[in-house]
Parts: sequence; structure tokens; C-alpha cells
Amino acid sequence: MIIAVDGPTASGKGTIAKALAEHFGLPHLDTGLLYRAVGRQVFLDGGDPDDGDDALAATAFPDSLLDDPHLRNEETGGLASRVSVHSAVRQALYERQRSFAMQDGGAVLDGRDIGTVIAPEAEAKLFVTASVEARAQRRFLEMRERGVQVTLLEIEDDLRRRDERDRNRDVAPLVPAADAMVIDTSALGKEEAIAAAIEAVKSACSQ
Ligand code: DC
Repeated sequence: MIIAVDGPTASGKGTIAKALAEHFGLPHLDTGLLYRAVGRQVFLDGGDPDDGDDALAATAFPDSLLDDPHLRNEETGGLASRVSVHSAVRQALYERQRSFAMQDGGAVLDGRDIGTVIAPEAEAKLFVTASVEARAQRRFLEMRERGVQVTLLEIEDDLRRRDERDRNRDVAPLVPAADAMVIDTSALGKEEAIAAAIEAVKSACSQ
């Protein structure tokens, strides 16, 4: 069984994907981490994330980079969004994601284009979303807890910019697959969102 979980930044898709993997006993791949590694590698190389050649060169990042805590920060998220517009970068990361999806027994993958490009045949496709305000509020609390100095308005601006870029790029834009089930987590707590996702997967698989 392949479960595809797509959605914008800070929608809760990562939390949901992890919980689904645990519930159904499947391996999980956070594909955003691969794009983040490319963004981080471009930075380490002193390259330009908007330049297709520099970004493509950075897809040869070492596996050890995937453990770098810098991958989780907002700067790297912004770089990831910029390198992810290049089709050569997306192609270079395709095989790794595709073979993870196709492994025996199934898998859960979360990202932006899992249900549309990486695994269009997935048995269950979820599109996890939430209002910009709800996502910004969550990110704000998360960052404050980590001691990062930032305002709610700055986070909202950054989310809007990233949404805009992810939705409007030419290759594999962030759009729900036609057969995806949309889960809006704006008014849901973590456990409610997870329960809704488990139900959605069960109903998709019983059809
Ligand atoms: O999910 P995330 O915030 O870790 O993703 C970071 C960026 O990577 C996101 O802004 C767009 C890009 N990305 C993508 O284009 N396709 C994916 N499957 C996953 C992430």
C-alpha cells in the first residue's frame, strides 16, 4: 500500500505522515528533506539556488547531509523552495523517491507532488492543508519554543511567499491530485487530524 501525503508548508502533513506510517507499519520518507538537502548544499557550495546548473550540481549531496540540523530551519526551507522549481533537480530526485514508494510492502511519502508525479497509482492520497493564519501560528509557537526571535507577521509573509512559489511553478506545482482526499487541519488538534487521516486512508483502501 502506498500512501501519498501532500500539502503546503506547516500544514501538519509531516506529523500526519509519520503517524500514518506508525499506525499502518510502513516506512516513511519526508521528501521535503531531499529538497532541503539540495538547498543546503547549494549554500555550502556558495552557489545560486535560482541557477539551474548550480542547483543540479547540489543534488549530488552526501547522504550524511540528511542528518544536518540546519535542514530544518526556515532559511533552508526557503532555499529548498527555490531549488525545487528546476525540472532537472526534480528529475534528479525522482528515482530515489520512486524506488522508496515501490518497495515491497508499501510506504508513506509526504511532499508536494507525491500523488500527482511520484506515485500517481497510490492507493490513498491525502492533501493536508490549513489556513495561512493557522499554519503561521503553529510555526510561530514552534520557533518561539526553540528560542528563535521572529514575529507572527514575518512568518505569515514567508509562508505566503513560499506557497506562491510552490503553487505557481511550471513543473509539478503544489496542487491536490484529482482523487486526493482533502484534510483541512485549521480547526483540528494534532490527535483529531491524525484520526481523520487514518479514517481517510481506511476508506480509500476499502473502495
Ligand atoms: O515540506 P518542506 O517544507 O520540507 O519542503 C521544502 C520545500 O521543498 C518546499 O517549499 C517545496 C519543495 N518540495 C517540493 O518541491 N516537492 C516535494 N515533494 C517536497 C518538497
